[in-house]
Formats: sequence, C-alpha cells, structure tokens
Amino acid sequence: MIPTRVTEILGVEHPVIQGGMQWVGRAELTAAVANAGALGFLTALTQPTPEELAREIARCRELTDRVFGVNLTFLPAVNPPPYADYLAVVIDAGITVVETAGRSPEPFMPDLKRAGIRVIHKCTSVAHARTAEKLGVDMVSIDGFECAGHPGESDVPSLVLVPAAASALTIPVIASGGFADGRGLAAALALGAEAVNMGTRFVATREAPVHNRVKERLVAATENDTRLIMRELRNSWRVSANSVASEVNQRLADGADFEGVRELVVGTRGRTVFESGDIEAGVWSAGMAQGLVHDVPSVAELIERMVTEAEETLVAQAGRIAARPLGLLPSI
Ligand SMILES: Cc1cc2nc3c(=O)[nH]c(=O)nc-3n(C[C@H](O)[C@H](O)[C@H](O)COP(=O)(O)O)c2cc1C
Repeated sequence: MIPTRVTEILGVEHPVIQGGMQWVGRAELTAAVANAGALGFLTALTQPTPEELAREIARCRELTDRVFGVNLTFLPAVNPPPYADYLAVVIDAGITVVETAGRSPEPFMPDLKRAGIRVIHKCTSVAHARTAEKLGVDMVSIDGFECAGHPGESDVPSLVLVPAAASALTIPVIASGGFADGRGLAAALALGAEAVNMGTRFVATREAPVHNRVKERLVAATENDTRLIMRELRNSWRVSANSVASEVNQRLADGADFEGVRELVVGTRGRTVFESGDIEAGVWSAGMAQGLVHDVPSVAELIERMVTEAEETLVAQAGRIAARPLGLLPSI
C-alpha cells in the first residue's frame, strides 16, 4: 500500500490512474482499472452523443461497484461537441470525479463544484497548473513532453515538470507522461507527485478494447518510435511513428495548413486503427513510454506488479542509505 493524498481524496487503493483515451477509454478498461484498486476514466467524447455516454456509464457500473470517473476533453473546434450536455449526463449519473483536459475547465467549474465533483485538470505547464489551482480544481495531472497525445508546446519532460509543479502548487500533483512501471511510480513519488497517470501502458493490457495488432506494435516499438506531428500548427500531437505521421509532417513542412492535412488526422481514421488493427490506417496517440512496454498483462497484473515494484524500489533505496556506514559519508 502506498497511501497519498490522491488515494485518500479519491477513495482508491493505489496511486495509479488511467487517463482519458479517445476510442480506448471504454467501460471494459475503466472497470478493470477500478476493480484493480486504481482510478480509471471513461472518455466522454468516445461516445458520439451524451445519451450514449449515459449508457456507457451504466455499462461500467455493471462491471464494477468501485469508483471511476469521466474524462472531458475540451478541443479547439469550429463546431464544438455539446459539452454542457455531456456534463449534465455526468452529473445526473452521480459521477464523483472528472478529469478535464485540453482547454481551461473554467466555464464548467461552477456546475462541477455545485455537484460536489472532484476535478483533476490535466495540463502541460506549471503556469496552467497554477491557473487551474486558482480556479478551484482538486488536483492537477501534469503531462510531460514524453506523453502520448498533446504535450503542449514547451517541451518540458516529466523529470523537470513534475517537481516544478509540486513545488508551485499546494493541491496534489499527479505525474503523467512517460510512466509505465513501478520504477516510474517510485520516481514520481520521489519527485513530489502523489500518483501517476498513464495512457500508453494501459493500451497494452488485455482489457483495453483495441485490436491485438495495436498492442503488439506497442510491445515491439521502442522509445524512438513516436513522432510529434502538427508542431507547425501549434497543436503538437505525439503519435505512433507510421507512414501517415510522416505524410502529415511532410505536407506541413511543404507549407500545408490544417486543411491540407485534415484528411490524414481525422479521428475516424484513428478509430479504424484501434478497431481493425491496421496500424497504418491513420495517426494514433502513443507515448515514449512504449519503450518500457514489453508485454500485454491483465490490468490487475499490471497494477499489482507496478505497486509491488515501486514499494521494493523505495525500500531498497532507503535500505541502501540506512546501511551506509556513517564514516564513509563524504566530508565536504
Ligand atoms: C490512445 C490514446 C488516446 C488518448 N486520448 C486522450 C483524450 O482523448 N483526452 C485526454 O485528455 N488525454 C488523452 N490521452 C492522453 C492520456 O490520458 C495520458 O495523459 C497520456 O497518455 C500520459 O502519457 P503516457 O502515454 O506516457 O502514459 C490519450 C492517450 C492515448 C495513449
């Protein structure tokens, strides 16, 4: 057991979180995470309508009686999804924790707070984390440059971002981006975080509702096999390295604007990847942590293994310090 403020506030056993994942954050994965004593998030926008989100929440409740949350990702969009309606479903369903991401959660904070919902805002800079704290969020997940999906534009890796955020905030900080095993969890705790949030590692689990070929690709890929696309458009996106990602970057380098790459980056193509297993069908989020993914365990095995390894790592380090004869300490 590694108790932290995050486990206490959220009422979960382990300081491990499965972040929202478009097309992947569905009931079977989120319920498996909850049943393993960690916190999972259903991804609201994976459901085409608020009504379907209500059904997915009900389906998740059939698979677990433990706490789970819903991720609301606010995307820059010409025709934004009906966020207020998705939020109304979340509130009506009695969900107690929401992960917000993308834009600021400010417009939705009054409703979230009135409903007594705990808010974890996921962001990629200390400045945005501070703003979120002022807005009244309960915790911040801070996504380092290594992360799958959108790492922001300031390119600060978790090793610096996590302790910088932990020093700047009084609310709990959750380390995200680049974490995949117990050594990472131990390191995150040492850096001042009170939990880790993972995406990539959870895609390569038995319960993740994606085609096996995607999981096999994550196992085979190294930390070098991701690509950042859309940098020129200031909407950087870390995806699995494939021919479509190269084509996006080539077109942008040749001067294309968003319209010039839209057909390559549309979400429906990513969905096809996860459903058909054709890993070249579109771009799909994957983080550098794939270099630490060597198998496809069940979620319960993964979490048990991570927590045990983190405990052993922390105890071994403490043991080394305790065992060191005082006389051998360097005199400076
Ligand atoms: C396939 C996939 C889809 C994702 N989709 C979303 C999303 O819709 N909203 C979101 O807030 N984060 C999304 N993320 C990011 C994760 O929630 C998490 O912040 C990130 O994966 C952490 O970095 P890691 O991959 O190194 O663990 C996605 C990640 C993956 C792997």
